[in-house]
Amino acid sequence: MKKLVELISEDVTQAFISKGYDEKYGVVTPSNRPDLCQFQCNGAMAAAKAYKKAPIMIAQEIVEVLQDNSRIKEITAVMPGFINITLSDEFLAEYINDMRINKDFGCEKEKSPKKVIIDYGGPNIAKPLHVGHMRSAIIGESLKRIFKFMGNDAIGDVHLGDWGTPMGLVIAELKRRKPDLIYFDDNYTEEYPAEAPFTISELEEIYPAASAYSKENPEFLEEAKRITYLMQNGHRGYMALWKHMQDVSVTDLKKIYDNLNVSFELWKKESDAQPYVKDMVEYLKINNYARLSDGALVVDVKEEADTKEIPPFMILKSDGATLYSTTDLATIVERMKLFDPDHIIYITDKRQELHFEIVFRCAKKTKLVKEDTKLQFIGFGTMNGKDGKPFKTRDGGVLRLEYLIKMVTDEVYRKIMESRSMDEEEAKQIAAKVGLAALKYGDLSNQASKDYVFDLERFTSFEGNSGPYILYTIVRIKSILEKFNATGKSISSDMRILPASSAVERELMLQITRFSDLIHLAYEEQAPHRICQYIYDLADKFSSFYHDTKVISEDYSEERQGSLILMITLIQEILLTCIDLLGFEAPDRM
Ligand code: ARG
Repeated sequence: MKKLVELISEDVTQAFISKGYDEKYGVVTPSNRPDLCQFQCNGAMAAAKAYKKAPIMIAQEIVEVLQDNSRIKEITAVMPGFINITLSDEFLAEYINDMRINKDFGCEKEKSPKKVIIDYGGPNIAKPLHVGHMRSAIIGESLKRIFKFMGNDAIGDVHLGDWGTPMGLVIAELKRRKPDLIYFDDNYTEEYPAEAPFTISELEEIYPAASAYSKENPEFLEEAKRITYLMQNGHRGYMALWKHMQDVSVTDLKKIYDNLNVSFELWKKESDAQPYVKDMVEYLKINNYARLSDGALVVDVKEEADTKEIPPFMILKSDGATLYSTTDLATIVERMKLFDPDHIIYITDKRQELHFEIVFRCAKKTKLVKEDTKLQFIGFGTMNGKDGKPFKTRDGGVLRLEYLIKMVTDEVYRKIMESRSMDEEEAKQIAAKVGLAALKYGDLSNQASKDYVFDLERFTSFEGNSGPYILYTIVRIKSILEKFNATGKSISSDMRILPASSAVERELMLQITRFSDLIHLAYEEQAPHRICQYIYDLADKFSSFYHDTKVISEDYSEERQGSLILMITLIQEILLTCIDLLGFEAPDRM
């Protein structure tokens, strides 16, 4: 379905053409003054210059043509040359009836669907997840859902960090603590046990300990690097331990992502890209893209127009070791070979922006991707505490994701138990859903690139711009529909949504029609916060409407009540679709 503003634009454009003006002046936008009108066209002002006429005269000409247009209730020319438009209630209702019967509320899909790999999550094995990983998971999951909704083939890849010194540090520390483990016995030739010699909690404790110890003891760091090198080059015992780390971590990560309602099509790892490195280095050398710089192999990616210093892309260090950037370039090679995507999106903390800029430039310059392969980085800001500094635990440590989730869920549970009597088990289940919504909505309602303040009180509030408020609206509509069903009345197939009969209802209907506009905007800008804005306004307008109109209790005609029921059902469906795009679910009651 065309958007409402497109339909109106078409009519206004026709009017401009009929009066001999260029079609480009007929663009209509939602009104900046909703108190005066629903839509506006500023084309007369622009046309005035080109046609050397007073803008108000042009506006009046256009208004005259559209005076009897059946879609329009009121159209006026306002000084200095605005055209203010309010739609007829019949047309508005007709549009909403069409939304109701069309798939996905008439939202038009991507005309040329793309294959898109979305690289998000990015956890590292053996290291606990922190808030940055949570943001990546939340934003990435939502974007992936938006891309799929628009008809693209979107593939989420967790891109597990399993390559590099952290692995060596863990193994070195394990060796220090338990030197007798068979993995350290070079004479051991049998199969290693299937069971890992550590649990996830041990593993997560070992890494920070090893990392701290390595800072005081350079020889320990050297040992860890040596172990990393051996592990990467096929040392049996170290490789077996590494495999154990992967298994233990992945099992744990899957649980955590499951709780976050986040899932990945691909569980690829940094190590999966390593087999591509050798040929890639050869290719870069043979084609003279790479040069030696102090023993290191680099590709220059500076460009004339650069205003800041762009360092070269480093492929290999002087000792031949690979880097984070080498892995990312090889991963691009791997992805092109296995999936041939049109578009790859990376979602990490914005501090990695320069890294990706260099990787992308190198991939393009060296033709490891096609000319039209789109490489995109989406960097997000920091989650801060109320003091404006990065959110920390009370003892000042980095915040672990599980604690954060628990904190939010506990607070929601407390609120539920405080105000209603509910079975403890049920309250826990509801708190889990509502808590997740609080956390995700709290994050996604901000423009991703901006820092935001984690405000437990505001995020978990059942009122205002929060996840729980959206869920509360959905649950409230559900209970109205249940009450309606309990009256024994039903909706017959010929019932329709009728034209608005009050200002609040008209406002609400207008908000419903904006669904496609906002979904498209969220998609084009890769900005889930657009959806949050839309559903908050929708929930809010529903609330004013409901305050005014008692859908069940009043004595309406059957048609009128049927119309109200159809409309709130539509609102509920739209809200459910939108929260699904944001990556959370509604409970049955709360
Ligand atoms: N593991 C990385 C980190 O924790 C994030 C990975 C992001 N993706 C990528 N292809 N580099 O910072």
